[in-house]
Amino acid sequence: MTNSDTLHKQDPTLTAAWNKLTDHFQDMKDVSMAKMFAEDSKRAKDFALELEEVLFLDYSKNLINGKTMALLSDLAEELDLKDGIDKMFAGKLINETEGRAVLHTALRAPRSAHIEVYGENVVPKVQEVLARMKDFVGLFDDKKWKGYTGKDITDFVNIGIGGSDLGPVMVCEALTPFHHPDRKVHFVSNVDGAHIEQTLAALDPETTLFIIASKTFTTIETMTNAHSAREWFLEGASQNDVKKHFVALSTNIDAAVAFGIGEENIFEFWDWVGGRYSLSSAIGLSILVAIGADHFSGLLSGMHWMDNHFRSAPPLENIPVVLALLGIWYSNFHGCETEAILPYDQNLRYLPSYLQQASMESNGKMVTRAGSEVSYETGSIIWGDAGTNSQHSFFQLLHQGTRLIPCDFLLPAIPNHSLDHHHTLLAANAFAQCEALMTGKSADQVKLELAQSGKTDEAMDQLLPFKVFDGNRPSNMILLKRLTPFSLGAIIAMYEHKIFVQGYIWNIFSFDQFGVELGKALAKDLAPELTGSAKSEMHDASTNQLVAKFKSLKSN
Ligand code: F6P
Repeated sequence: MTNSDTLHKQDPTLTAAWNKLTDHFQDMKDVSMAKMFAEDSKRAKDFALELEEVLFLDYSKNLINGKTMALLSDLAEELDLKDGIDKMFAGKLINETEGRAVLHTALRAPRSAHIEVYGENVVPKVQEVLARMKDFVGLFDDKKWKGYTGKDITDFVNIGIGGSDLGPVMVCEALTPFHHPDRKVHFVSNVDGAHIEQTLAALDPETTLFIIASKTFTTIETMTNAHSAREWFLEGASQNDVKKHFVALSTNIDAAVAFGIGEENIFEFWDWVGGRYSLSSAIGLSILVAIGADHFSGLLSGMHWMDNHFRSAPPLENIPVVLALLGIWYSNFHGCETEAILPYDQNLRYLPSYLQQASMESNGKMVTRAGSEVSYETGSIIWGDAGTNSQHSFFQLLHQGTRLIPCDFLLPAIPNHSLDHHHTLLAANAFAQCEALMTGKSADQVKLELAQSGKTDEAMDQLLPFKVFDGNRPSNMILLKRLTPFSLGAIIAMYEHKIFVQGYIWNIFSFDQFGVELGKALAKDLAPELTGSAKSEMHDASTNQLVAKFKSLKSN
């Protein structure tokens, strides 16, 4: 591997653009967005991007001006972001710590594409697995796949965790209106026995099919749940019937076969697909089951459409790049620690959890690509929930708390339901919250309102500080024409690429996750100690005490 195959290892803080941004921040830290709008009639238009009536981004309600965006774009150019993007799409081994390519984009590339990894064009094998997945679902469309007693399969249980769960859960929920009427998809992820027990309680083994989704086929939670599912199934069925009720999605074919799954029922993917970037691979089988082949193709097309945009648009016309640069502006210059994801669409309510893994497992890193400790903040804390529910839980802190929290609002213009008056209210709330975050409420406004309500001067003075909103709080509005498989695919790829750009600029490796290993290893040691078969006292005093207390509480 030569340097030309890997990502540059440049400290962003040593660039001229970073230094200029540091100076520029001094001019910008106290600017008023409302004033900038008042002074510039073109502001809303200048800081908006539209992609073919599918997706419209308004980022004008941010603490930025033209110079901010120009300097952020200079930062991307000085660090040669284009080179990083080209290397990812070309299948270079940019996941250097694991010696792998990062090619989730190949999963949705057209049949005619040619993308090489280790000298092999991977597109034909991607297409082959995709065709097998579609054929598999076709068997249920045509009612040709029967359970061990000859009944049709009605329920599918995806057993997986992290990237083998969160993406499919989010997409299946988001696309509920597109679901096949005769098929119900369930998800079991947590090793907490309640999850599988409660899910199975409502199911019939004769009509249930399990999809064991695990890139490694070794993840303890997934394997434990898979074994419990098989035991439950074998209460009435025989070992030979397992093939009719269990399929696997994995890169580890041998382990799936050893579990008892027929090789013809294993849908493969490859080490160059990161777990948290895998929903467009075989890991998306549960999605395909739920929404059918045509809609699944729509989802992949939307992702590919966004991939093309990301690959070709100049930085300031490039939606993922603009979102990434804004995030860097807030994180590294304003000192913001978190970002809120606020979908105004009930079916998109799992988007924040999905993005938590995608972003935080990717960019929660403190070592540069050169192996030294970073001297600046990296991955933001991602959180959020659907509006309008979230307005009645945490929005108070967004409006009047001490922290500055940039927000992404997402809203479809056309709902996927028939209650249009509900949608009008939903949209009005989304726009109103963005407006309120920006404009706030001045002391003069509050005084006027209090006077009109008949308050005395004394009461007014007392109440005034509590009722003033500073405003000037940033947000992006991502407006979709409608939430469809295509537009959802575009949104997912948009955030995937935002994460890539941020990791690239922060000079970290976004595609490994060594930080999750330690806890997993410790849990493996601790499990036998909790059942009494191994001696505890091997840990720190607090952990030893907790193990002892847990055992005594359990035995009493
Ligand atoms: O949490 C760590 C992790 O490795 C994730 O990156 C991954 O998505 C998840 O576990 C599940 O892994 P697997 O698909 O191999 O079961």
